[in-house]
Amino acid sequence: MTTPSPEFITLHGQRSSLVLELVPGEAPLWRHWGARLPDGIDPGAALRDTRALPTFALDQDLPLTVAPVFGTGWFGQSALLAHREGRDFAQGWTGCTVEWTAPGRALTLHLSDAVARLRLDLSIALDADSDVLVLCSTLHNDGDTALDLQWLAAGTLPLPGRCDAVRSFAGQHVHEFLPQTDPLTRSLWRRESRRGRTSHDCFPGAVVTTPGATAQTGRVFGAHLAWSGNHQQTIEWLHDGQYQWQFGEWLAPGEGRLAPGASLTTPELVASCSDEGLDGLAANFHAELRRRLDWPGGAMRPRPVHLNTWEGVYFDVHPGPVKEMATAAAALGIERFVLDDGWFHGRHHDRAALGDWWPDAHKFPDGLSGLIAHVNALGMEFGLWVEPEMVSPDSELFRAHPDWALQIAGRPLLTARNQLVLDIARPEASDYLFEKIAALLAAHPIRYLKWDLNRDLAPAGLGDGRAGYRAQVLAAYALMARLRTAFPEVEIESCSGGGGRIDFGVLRHAHRVWTSDCIDALSRVEMQHGFLQFFPPEIMGAHVGTAPAHTTGRTQAMAFRAAVALAGHFGVELDPRQLSTEDADELRGWIALHKRLRDRLHHGRVWRGEAGDGLHWQFHADADTADGVLIVLRTRPSDHRQPPALRLPMLDVAARYRVRELRPAGSPRREGRHHTAPFFDAQDSAEGVTLAGAWLAEVGLPMLRAPAETAFIARIERV
Ligand code: GLA
Repeated sequence: MTTPSPEFITLHGQRSSLVLELVPGEAPLWRHWGARLPDGIDPGAALRDTRALPTFALDQDLPLTVAPVFGTGWFGQSALLAHREGRDFAQGWTGCTVEWTAPGRALTLHLSDAVARLRLDLSIALDADSDVLVLCSTLHNDGDTALDLQWLAAGTLPLPGRCDAVRSFAGQHVHEFLPQTDPLTRSLWRRESRRGRTSHDCFPGAVVTTPGATAQTGRVFGAHLAWSGNHQQTIEWLHDGQYQWQFGEWLAPGEGRLAPGASLTTPELVASCSDEGLDGLAANFHAELRRRLDWPGGAMRPRPVHLNTWEGVYFDVHPGPVKEMATAAAALGIERFVLDDGWFHGRHHDRAALGDWWPDAHKFPDGLSGLIAHVNALGMEFGLWVEPEMVSPDSELFRAHPDWALQIAGRPLLTARNQLVLDIARPEASDYLFEKIAALLAAHPIRYLKWDLNRDLAPAGLGDGRAGYRAQVLAAYALMARLRTAFPEVEIESCSGGGGRIDFGVLRHAHRVWTSDCIDALSRVEMQHGFLQFFPPEIMGAHVGTAPAHTTGRTQAMAFRAAVALAGHFGVELDPRQLSTEDADELRGWIALHKRLRDRLHHGRVWRGEAGDGLHWQFHADADTADGVLIVLRTRPSDHRQPPALRLPMLDVAARYRVRELRPAGSPRREGRHHTAPFFDAQDSAEGVTLAGAWLAEVGLPMLRAPAETAFIARIERV
């Protein structure tokens, strides 16, 4: 007997749709997440009417739902694992009501389990413009005893069985976004982090590809957990040939204990799919993040070029020399001067002082006012480094409040970088931090905080002996929000030993991230490529560092260092007093070029490619490619005597384009007898060369024969 008239829920984006099947007394079944379906199309029949029961199986067919649960016939990974002192170990949804929160766009499914006395509110929203799907789950304990929640997925997504690989990121300090591709098979695929922060080694996101998908073509799916703490994602093959993808916070034992009447809300799961390959997916994530960023004044202003003092002088910050640095920075065209670590009470090295957030009286006997006034008088904004969630054992704060450090009674206090983690979920600790930072912000025109977090959480015990990972993340967000409410003009950079806290969660409060402590331009090429899969360039901290680079010892020319940083939130991290006149002139030219291009680079879309033969390229343009900037980076010498042309597949094949090479004044092309490109010398006439879009897309743009570690930058405009 077939189901009389099955009911479906459909959400449409521009290029994607999702379809759920409502079944009375159950959780809705996943029917589709993928390509945009024409309006009015539905599956035509109830899922169970379209498929046979497998042999040797339960006599009920249990397909993938939006929230599969354990113990009542679903044998796959469960979106929920919980019990009450060993009972109610199995769950089963007995009711579901649908609440449309934005008709056609967003809804909340209210699922209930009358037996285990639980309710799950699952919100699902598909943004019609960006094709980004946001899911979030809240579990309520309606019972009269405590519920121990071990796992609650923020969301469960279906993936078609033709998906064949998953790309995620591994890495470490000074090498974030290390790409890793695994085949999808019948084995479970899982990545998780228990470090208490987003982490350098396990970014909470991944991209699933279908066969043949490329950077610009083919169907791909992506998901990211908007959360700065522990996380877990799992992709599991299912017996009907598709996969399920679950993503959520990894809860430490006890963190999910819910008293009667209590509830737990997961972080948001941000997901999307695209038929335009990895770059199409990236565009969707960029659009979503741009929608979320909470800019002072309501809109992003051109990203000010930074000078960050860290690698220039490290802890050796004294007002005289730092003022000289500021003067030299202003002469380069720097717009924001950021005083990094080393300015506060007793901070002369990394073995002391975290927690004592007032200016060091020996270094700054008159406080920070003189320095800040000097910086402002030079026309630059002032920014300051802080690491609020940390405390040094050798600090006045720790001596006064040793109990404020996260710790487990009877176990060693493990330090990392000689520091401990403050239990900022304690109101008195977060009040202390708020007061100390607010005092600085109230006393001075500080417009920017570089907010660092330089270690993993362990031991992460709260005062009452329970695990504090989740509490710590929520308290950090609350402290940032409190400071931003009190000082709405202040921007925040999220730093965590470089890129250990880069996620859509912290970016509700922050406006820039420090991508990596590795500023070596060659290393940055791959890291930034990975970064741009989920995050737009305008929040990507990208600096010109010294040569040789401090973290790798490698030396690159100024032009290559600047070209690699050009598309990001551009900055300089060196002592500008030490620059030769030639280097200073060249850097000034690059800063001017960045300022000229940043509006183009920081809006619109990004296409990325590896053309082989050591060529990496990025194209930043408006969505219809009428006006773009091409950055081509040669990371190693060509294997060809005559390098092949570079195809630009995103260009409009019906249009013609003017291509003009861009070089800052004072930054000559590194070309010798063997590195000529007479073709582009036409640009000296400012006219550039005009080529057919079809030619550039199919055959390609002629490439210079250039040495390793050089860049070619061009403006490409439709004529
Ligand atoms: C971390 C950051 C650096 C710098 C230092 C200061 O390592 O990533 O950029 O701020 O801390 O101690």
